[in-house]
Amino acid sequence: MTAKAREVEKLVQRGLSDIRQAQSLEELERLRVTLLGRKGSLTAILRSLKDLPAEDRRQLGELANRGKQSLETALTEAGFALREAVSRQAALAEIDVTLPGRRLPRGRLHPLNRITAEICNIFLHLGFETVEGPEVELDYYNFEALNIPPDHPARDMQDTFYFNDQVLLRTHTSPMQIRIMEKRRPPVRIIAPGKVYRRDSDMTHSPMFHQVEGLLVDRQVTFANLKGVLTVFVHELFGPEVGLRFRPSYFPFTEPSAEIDIACVICRGQGCRVCKNTGWLEILGAGMVHPAVFEAVGYDPETYTGFAFGLGVERVAMLKYGIDDIRLFYENDLRFLRQF
Ligand code: PHE
Repeated sequence: MTAKAREVEKLVQRGLSDIRQAQSLEELERLRVTLLGRKGSLTAILRSLKDLPAEDRRQLGELANRGKQSLETALTEAGFALREAVSRQAALAEIDVTLPGRRLPRGRLHPLNRITAEICNIFLHLGFETVEGPEVELDYYNFEALNIPPDHPARDMQDTFYFNDQVLLRTHTSPMQIRIMEKRRPPVRIIAPGKVYRRDSDMTHSPMFHQVEGLLVDRQVTFANLKGVLTVFVHELFGPEVGLRFRPSYFPFTEPSAEIDIACVICRGQGCRVCKNTGWLEILGAGMVHPAVFEAVGYDPETYTGFAFGLGVERVAMLKYGIDDIRLFYENDLRFLRQF
């Protein structure tokens, strides 16, 4: 074999192995151009054939043409393989933007949390700060400092959950009045939402329920201020048309005391089952802070006056949403919870 023939043989072998290793269609095209293009190396050899003696030309021509053919076949095959790989990848990566998205079920606030947030927000706008305190409470904060004497019926084992004779589950949020006044000097303007506990259970009573406590202490606070603040609050929560009344009442830690009723939201004051035919629904206990309470926390009752109130969250939620069984709040039945 001549040196020229060996050169052609080597060129073709190199070309074939390069083609088989090509990683992309671009690389393949580059190889085709450098081997078989107009200025390609094999093209140059084929062109130079005409200058050779007849015998060499025949031999080398045959060799070069066979080489050209096998290179072309290899290029076509490699091209197929690469195109197939590319489209397979594209199919895998393809995203159909016309498909509807998968919906994630969206959670929502529990109705009690929603009402609590709404209540806190109304008082926030009236200048009250929200505070929180313990549910496991001392007898001192729950009763004694609130001017509730040892023989008061509220202390009865029938009503209160005791851990021992000093420690209990708070029966109302009023101990927060004491905890805050112990720590701060007037003016005080707070509300305290939270869980409270009583031995009671039926359609409208749960052994655990929620209250929001309110307390405002400053110089020259009057019962008129109490009426003003609570009237604004009730109108914000239930709407400006809803009627309300202040009814004299009694709490050991306020004097004078009142209970606040709203016109029945079910019958609008006509009288029905929910309001037991009175046309009114009680939603708040309130009053002017008792001097004995100020003394317990070291405030001078001659200098300061204040008002306090307590509200049942379940009660408000039941009235606002027309719910007739308190237990629905605690069963976590999604069919109930999804309605809010
Ligand atoms: N703590 C009282 C109750 O649970 C409500 C109340 C709070 C009354 C503050 C007056 C002042 O019934």
